[in-house]
Amino acid sequence: MKKVLITGGAGFIGSHLCDALLENGYGVVVFDNLDQQVHPEGNIPEYLNRNVDFVKGDVRDYSKLKEVVCNADFIFHFASAVGVGQSQYQISKYVDVNICGTANLLDILVNSRHHIKKLIVAASMSSYGEGKARCKKCGIFKPALRNIPEGTGVKEKEYWEIKCPLCGDIADSIPTDEGSLLDSNSIYAITKKEQEEMCLLIGKLYGIPVVSLRFFNVYGPRQSLSNPYTGVAAIFISRIKNNKPPVIFEDGLQTRDFIWVDDVIRANILALENEKANQQYFNVGTGKPVSILDVAKNLINLSGKKIHPLVTYRFRKGDVRHCYADTRKIEKVLGFKPTFSFERGMLNLLKWSDSVIAEDRFISVMEELKKKKLV
Ligand SMILES: NC(=O)c1ccc[n+]([C@@H]2O[C@H](COP(=O)([O-])OP(=O)(O)OC[C@H]3O[C@@H](n4cnc5c(N)ncnc54)[C@H](O)[C@@H]3O)[C@@H](O)[C@H]2O)c1
Ligand SMILES: [Zn+2]
Repeated sequence: MKKVLITGGAGFIGSHLCDALLENGYGVVVFDNLDQQVHPEGNIPEYLNRNVDFVKGDVRDYSKLKEVVCNADFIFHFASAVGVGQSQYQISKYVDVNICGTANLLDILVNSRHHIKKLIVAASMSSYGEGKARCKKCGIFKPALRNIPEGTGVKEKEYWEIKCPLCGDIADSIPTDEGSLLDSNSIYAITKKEQEEMCLLIGKLYGIPVVSLRFFNVYGPRQSLSNPYTGVAAIFISRIKNNKPPVIFEDGLQTRDFIWVDDVIRANILALENEKANQQYFNVGTGKPVSILDVAKNLINLSGKKIHPLVTYRFRKGDVRHCYADTRKIEKVLGFKPTFSFERGMLNLLKWSDSVIAEDRFISVMEELKKKKLV
């Protein structure tokens, strides 16, 4: 039986991957430090499949990591600190876990005896910064990061939108392809970019097949509803469950690409099993932009509660206006197409959330961001 090691396998996406791999006949080892922010209970989460071998360990612990690496055939490297806003002030920690942790993994692959046949690394759409845009007069461009004063309160849409650097007109957002410049605007995004580059480079130098998957906004069951630093859908649900309005930055018309976790898992299995994926990087998204305001409205409608989203017209420094995936590469090379619609996904997410306790910690995070002058 082929053995797959998943670093960060006790987390949201990793745990779903465990289920799929076990179903497909692989043996699975999870290496995870049960980071307190993700697993406040401090135990192996109940949702984690009982048929995995669980090893509690930190990717920063070289010798412990080496033990699990040397016994595996394939690796999914998912362990990361994942809060975008938090990374802007916990710089040392984010660089340590995400970059130094990845450095350990690669150092082991280069300097130890092992039989790893493929490494797949979870990269992120956040590394693009702003998504691509098109000016009707001047053509396609990759926008620079916006520089908007904090706490502006301006309601006009034009104020928030991406402008053409040549003529100043408002530009349309278009799908972002893998060849686009990675112009990261958070420490998290920079570390994800480095993880990808480091893995692909070492793969190329030493002939180890490596695949980098740039996940867009993944959502689904087991997302931590009490971790206020992660996915926006989960944060909104925890507000709604606590009868509080979802809080929206800017005018709410900024867009993202939301992909259901089962689709992401299919992309991971394809990347593992298809040799055409080797030494490549792929977007994993739906190619369909959805506004943040629509996410909030959708969830509120489905919940049946009489709540209205709170649109703040405030800028959170570093936030991207629009980014959604150009999905052509992964479709062409791996035959991957997402199947879950946004409406079906949101309904499923809400249904699942009924069975989970969601502590609303949003306000304390806002206070923290305000203190650091990030909103
Ligand atoms: N969820 C998304 O929308 C999304 C988007 C883009 C990329 N990603 C990437 O996908 C991967 C999985 O994300 P997720 O949403 O499942 O996050 P998650 O926080 O649910 O899971 C991450 C897991 O890593 C573990 N971990 C953290 N630090 C560790 C360390 N030092 N050593 C060992 N384990 C550690 C945590 O305990 C957790 O179980 C991450 O690399 C993330 O950057 C996620
Ligand atoms: Zn123009």
